[in-house]
Amino acid sequence: MTESGKQDELEPEGLLAQIEKEHLQEQNLCDRLEQIADDLLEPLDPVLARTSVVELRQCVRRHLVLEEGYLYPVLTKRLRRGELETDLLNQIREEHANDECLAYDTADQLERALERGRAENPEMLGYMLHGFFECRRRHIAWEDAVVLPLARSRLSAKDFRAFSVVEFEQSLTTGTLTFTRL
Ligand SMILES: [Fe+2]
Ligand SMILES: [Fe+2]
Repeated sequence: MTESGKQDELEPEGLLAQIEKEHLQEQNLCDRLEQIADDLLEPLDPVLARTSVVELRQCVRRHLVLEEGYLYPVLTKRLRRGELETDLLNQIREEHANDECLAYDTADQLERALERGRAENPEMLGYMLHGFFECRRRHIAWEDAVVLPLARSRLSAKDFRAFSVVEFEQSLTTGTLTFTRL
């Protein structure tokens, strides 16, 4: 048995566990961004800002690949009538695309502020930071409350076995993951 096969047996809900773990990481990122937004009139904390720039550029994209590459395609096949209808799935896709753009734009502005040691325009940077973390928190809270419980009840053991955290990590590294948007 392969290493990933063993993991799937030990962790039948690896996909959802991984999504919950990434939600927690993103919530921590949102908390750090709020801390930066609260102190924008002061010089930036370079470690806090630099870490946040890296995470903004990597974590959101990675999470969207996980959800749009694995979770939503399989969940959509298992839904019953009236559950997550097309309009709602379209809204999720739009939120993902908006959050990804916001993450990159916010990272760029934060990086510019880092080069100066402080925000050139605190009001604008504050607006961007709030825009990102408020949208992201709302989206994550909704997925935690609605989507993950639904996935837990609708996905089969075979669906869970089809996902391997190890293979997901490898596909990110090698760039071999192919997926279609929702
Ligand atoms: Fe999402
Ligand atoms: Fe999510």
